[in-house]
Amino acid sequence: MLIRKPDDIPSSEITPKAAYLSRRQFLTGAAAAGAALAGGFYLRSNSHDESVVQASGEKLTGITKSKYSSTEKPTSFKDITNYNNYYEFSTDKYEPNGMSKDFRTRPWSLAIDGMVKKRKSLDIDSILKLAPLEERIYRHRCVEGWSMVVPWVGFPLSALIKAADPLPSAKFIAFQTILAPDEMPNQKRDVLAWPYVEGLRMDEAMHPLTILAVGLYDQVLPNVDGAPLRLIVPWKYGFKGIKAIVKVSFADKMPPTTWNVMAPDEYGFYSNVNPTVDHPRWSQATERRIGASLFAPKQPTLMFNGYSDQVASLYSGMDLRKNF
Ligand code: MTE
Repeated sequence: MLIRKPDDIPSSEITPKAAYLSRRQFLTGAAAAGAALAGGFYLRSNSHDESVVQASGEKLTGITKSKYSSTEKPTSFKDITNYNNYYEFSTDKYEPNGMSKDFRTRPWSLAIDGMVKKRKSLDIDSILKLAPLEERIYRHRCVEGWSMVVPWVGFPLSALIKAADPLPSAKFIAFQTILAPDEMPNQKRDVLAWPYVEGLRMDEAMHPLTILAVGLYDQVLPNVDGAPLRLIVPWKYGFKGIKAIVKVSFADKMPPTTWNVMAPDEYGFYSNVNPTVDHPRWSQATERRIGASLFAPKQPTLMFNGYSDQVASLYSGMDLRKNF
């Protein structure tokens, strides 16, 4: 990941990506990310009109507890919202919270296209009614070596997929973040190939642990964490959790994903948390829990981030070193 050096990160975790990404690599990345759009209609969904409501911070009601929640103590709201990766705003960890405060998340609609019976567009309020909202307390492990425990509020991605009605031949689902350079300053710069894109295999997407988050603690999702709609796949590194999603597309081929396009030797499509497969430039064996005492030792990283019992079978027979 591209990181401007915050004082509290050891130099072993610093990755000056921009320094070695050549212009050529960037252009290839941009073309590949652009290809995600090709062939489908592109809806500039977040049409900012006078009915805009700033929903961040409002209380969510009717949230049920989930059997899939971790019993670990959640990280504080303050830490979760002040140590973030949101490159559209900043490559610094501490800046995105303030910078994203005025980002407009209403009205908002999600385009559904690709291998579906019928293309459609769903507005955020109808998406919120697709399934009951659940609290999902999940471990959140960033590829950079830090982790948190986050009480997300959301619903299974499978509920959206059901509403989208993909063709049986669809094998992958692709996600795309909004393109809003007027509100996201780094989208005017060559920081990443914009828009941010991600993808999952359909069985990963349909897994009951995979959710779309719309809240944090008992509140509407803060902008900095990906409001109004963000993907959470708890057994994968955090960068799979694409924020501010405006489009999902179904495909029979593996879609491009932003970090894989930017640095294919470092970030694979699968990106399952795996303490036995190091990042080419640092170990993935341990992690630093955000909010823990500075003197606390790093803790061991668990295979599939601790979700092996639920997800290991998705990858049986696969070489996880090759399919990193
Ligand atoms: N989604 C978008 N659109 N832009 C980003 O920069 N960063 C990713 C992921 N989703 C990112 C994104 C990375 S690298 C991580 S670790 C997580 O978001 C961080 O999520 P958090 O800030 O809620 O902890």
